[in-house]
Amino acid sequence: MPFPTHRLRRLRATEAMRALVRETRLAPSQFILPLFVCPGQGVKHEIGAMPGNYQMSIDALVKECAEIQSLGIGGAILFGLPESKDEMASGAYDDNGIVQRAIRAIRQETPRLLIVTDVCNCEYTSHGHCGFIKDGDVDNDVTLEWLAKSAVSHARAGADIVAPSDMMDGRVAAIRRALDADGFQKTPILAYAAKFASVFYGPFREAAESAPQFGDRRSYQMDPANGREAMREIELDLEEGADMIMVKPAMPYLDLISQARARFDVPIAAYQVSGEYSMIVAAARNGWLDHDRAMMESLTSIARAGAGVILTYFAKPAARLLG
Ligand code: PBG
Repeated sequence: MPFPTHRLRRLRATEAMRALVRETRLAPSQFILPLFVCPGQGVKHEIGAMPGNYQMSIDALVKECAEIQSLGIGGAILFGLPESKDEMASGAYDDNGIVQRAIRAIRQETPRLLIVTDVCNCEYTSHGHCGFIKDGDVDNDVTLEWLAKSAVSHARAGADIVAPSDMMDGRVAAIRRALDADGFQKTPILAYAAKFASVFYGPFREAAESAPQFGDRRSYQMDPANGREAMREIELDLEEGADMIMVKPAMPYLDLISQARARFDVPIAAYQVSGEYSMIVAAARNGWLDHDRAMMESLTSIARAGAGVILTYFAKPAARLLG
């Protein structure tokens, strides 16, 4: 006879009791903070649609990284705004590119901070697409060569983890091969395996100045309707040699994080993207939601679904709150 014998409210009576039986706990060490690095000196330009996030020149970025480390945050993922863009995304794989220089500078000041790099071309192409354009579409196999070169240049500069986000077929294998050929057998690949063509990337494209100048990304990023295909994408990336996989965005795709957790015994990351962040911040600024509670509840839901690693623009305020 369940009731009155069973009363689930017994274990909810006080915060001490709730803390004792809490199933999901967050720690700063599982967060990765996305950072945007731009040319110049002393630049710290707030991104309109992402309050509290900045385009920063390398000197400012280095200071930011010291703060991230002191808060115990797991790491940073870098996105670059190059001096100039071209059809061949040459800034992406230039050993003296903006991200490569940033990595070296961060390494000097905070040698132990984990540096992840986003391996993609959209911030570096004049047209804003993630690869080489042929007949109005991104050519998969030419783009693989750029991605492989970018990953190697990031590793050479000192990146700890490379994270391809382009959604080309075969990129994990191409990157693994290139890293190994260059002596970077130890550099892990975090594959943005299930990355959807999402409207929630809107604010990021302002931050990274990477909006496509024509068309959209639906011929390479995934259709939001497809969960089974997401599992195939993950499976293929793991076969190609991915060490960790990612689902992106996070909250609209919690079902897929949870399915992936049940199916694949590798670390799973989720990216709480710009739009997910901005929605919460905007609602809080309007007085419609409590900022801190919305932040922690959203992060908790992503962890509860099964993501051990969370890329989030909330990394700093959440780490502060966690103490
Ligand atoms: C690069 C990339 C994007 C994001 C991460 N890496 C933009 C895109 O695919 O359009 C989005 C991150 C965010 O919205 O916070 N390809």
